[in-house]
Amino acid sequence: MLRLIALLGLLATVVSGSQVTFADLNVPWDAPPHLDSTDNSLFSAVNSLLQRWPNTLYKNGASSMLCGNICFYTFPTTGHTIIPATMPIGTLLYHGHTVEGVPSVLEWVALDFEHAYLFCRQGPCYVVSFITTRDLRLAYFDGSSAIKWGNGTLDTQDMLTWGEPLSGRCTDEIQRIKNLCAWGKTFGLDGFVRMSYNFEVMVCDFSAGLKVVSVQNHLPKSVPELESEDDDLKYQPQSNPRPSAQTEEKPCPPMSRSSAIGPQPDPPGGWKGSLPEGYTFDFQPLVTGSWRNRSPGETRMHVDYSGLVTFYDTALASLIVSRRGVPRGHHRLLGISANDSARVHAELAEVFGRQTRGSGVDWGSVTRLIVERYAGRLETLRYTLEPVATFNLNATQQAALVRFQFLTMLVPYMTTDSVPTNASWTSSIVERCSTPSTSLIPASLLTPQERRIQGSVQGTLHEICRRLTVMWVDAFDIEAASEERAVVALENWRVHVKELMDWLGWSVWVDCNPACNPDAMCYLPSWPSFREGDIQDDMTPRCISSVSRAGQPTIWV
Ligand SMILES: *[C@@H]1O[C@H](CO)[C@@H](O)[C@H](O)[C@H]1NC(C)=O
Ligand SMILES: *[C@@H]1O[C@H](CO)[C@@H](O)[C@H](O)[C@H]1NC(C)=O
Ligand SMILES: *[C@@H]1O[C@H](CO)[C@@H](O)[C@H](O)[C@H]1NC(C)=O
Ligand SMILES: *[C@@H]1O[C@H](CO)[C@@H](O)[C@H](O)[C@H]1NC(C)=O
Repeated sequence: MLRLIALLGLLATVVSGSQVTFADLNVPWDAPPHLDSTDNSLFSAVNSLLQRWPNTLYKNGASSMLCGNICFYTFPTTGHTIIPATMPIGTLLYHGHTVEGVPSVLEWVALDFEHAYLFCRQGPCYVVSFITTRDLRLAYFDGSSAIKWGNGTLDTQDMLTWGEPLSGRCTDEIQRIKNLCAWGKTFGLDGFVRMSYNFEVMVCDFSAGLKVVSVQNHLPKSVPELESEDDDLKYQPQSNPRPSAQTEEKPCPPMSRSSAIGPQPDPPGGWKGSLPEGYTFDFQPLVTGSWRNRSPGETRMHVDYSGLVTFYDTALASLIVSRRGVPRGHHRLLGISANDSARVHAELAEVFGRQTRGSGVDWGSVTRLIVERYAGRLETLRYTLEPVATFNLNATQQAALVRFQFLTMLVPYMTTDSVPTNASWTSSIVERCSTPSTSLIPASLLTPQERRIQGSVQGTLHEICRRLTVMWVDAFDIEAASEERAVVALENWRVHVKELMDWLGWSVWVDCNPACNPDAMCYLPSWPSFREGDIQDDMTPRCISSVSRAGQPTIWV
């Protein structure tokens, strides 16, 4: 309390005259989130930017593709965020191709050598490395935005590129980068950031802010030995897929089957033993991508939260109905009205044209602190609520154990007034618990985009605090309750905790358990690389070998 008073005093001095107001919770303390609330989705997006795992996860079995004898699922992650980002001076970037030379305009660069090396599967391999000579100004599309597949991964880009999302344009990469760079030119943007199994940058002009460090002729990769024609490298990209028609919604082209695997390359003179084996090496971008799975994610870029433009803005009325009852990974921008589209374009122009930055609040840290505070404790709670037999406790004892956990989570928000004889005991717990620290900052310092994030933080906290307090009311005197009442209470709490965790949908709860051995990595299926076992529409992560060739994924790029 003393610290809070000190903080209030400090703020009052700094922002002289401004009234410090706590969040205005005009809703009853026990009101559940509105049916169309996007607070949970926006909160998670803010907490996940530039991290690979959460942006790979939300792609829940959107489609199954039958390809010959093999059927596998794609799980595109649909992003809803377009946000300014910067890449600092002194950052290395890589571009791999099979001919000697340096790209001049409009190309893609990787942040890791392994990702660039992928682009020459056979034969000669030149990797050009660049260094940034100043901060690059970029725009970042979240989700699995480099997945050239239908089902929404390209929606946000296509809104910018063509003014509307059309999944038939998967392969229109050249036109896409041209249009994006033309749009970005107005705002002095150097490029665009996307992610599939790793982050990549679409560079608009290699002569601006980039210097060639080297062009190296790297070892050619050996061609895998095929066990049988049916059983390896089943799918190859169509060579130079033709840009699809630009006006109609149509599925992305299926992968075509190819047995065209070239001869083994000649090793350089003096070389002994095996060359890097292509099949195994094609797996390495996944490994390097996994280094950015979790917070802090990709640290070679920084986002400007104060300019976060989101299609989860509930003012975009045309998207609301299409999200109802649809899991987060399936949210699309299809059906956005011309008016809403124009609204987003205007906001983007305002954000990217802005000279000032926002309040300086690190919203990524704000959301992360909340996830840190509750993720582990909610998981513990769910575990402790498992059926009585697991613990050899009777229901009353188990309920008492759970009561202690509610208390642990809510005690920072309780005072000596937090007893049922005080009519507002529950509402004051929820109000203290769900008021974001940032609401101590005068709203006038926040950009409209920050106010939207603030709203999502508050809405998310409110739902956590509401559920905990509802359960607390029930648990308050449970220690003296009958076995029958305890059984009923435990069942109610199980439902509350499940519903809360489902609503939050935090990716931190999805991980390999037990953890993988040092020679393995935790894996979620994702385009363009698939493995045996990806057939099921199942996003349970699993450990796969990161050293053995056996069962390596079929790579398709
Ligand atoms: C997902 O995309 C694929 C390929 O374009 C398409 O065949 C499928 O119908 C789509 N599924 C959904 C649910 O949109
Ligand atoms: C588009 O939005 C503007 C401003 O909100 C509104 O005045 C107008 O009626 C809307 N038009 C349509 C077709 O919804
Ligand atoms: C009830 O609790 C609130 C919040 O702690 C406090 O402000 C209020 O004075 C209490 N009311 C009574 C009647 O004790
Ligand atoms: C639950 O178990 C404890 C310890 O064995 C016992 O003291 C208590 O009476 C039991 N409660 C009920 C309701 O059976």
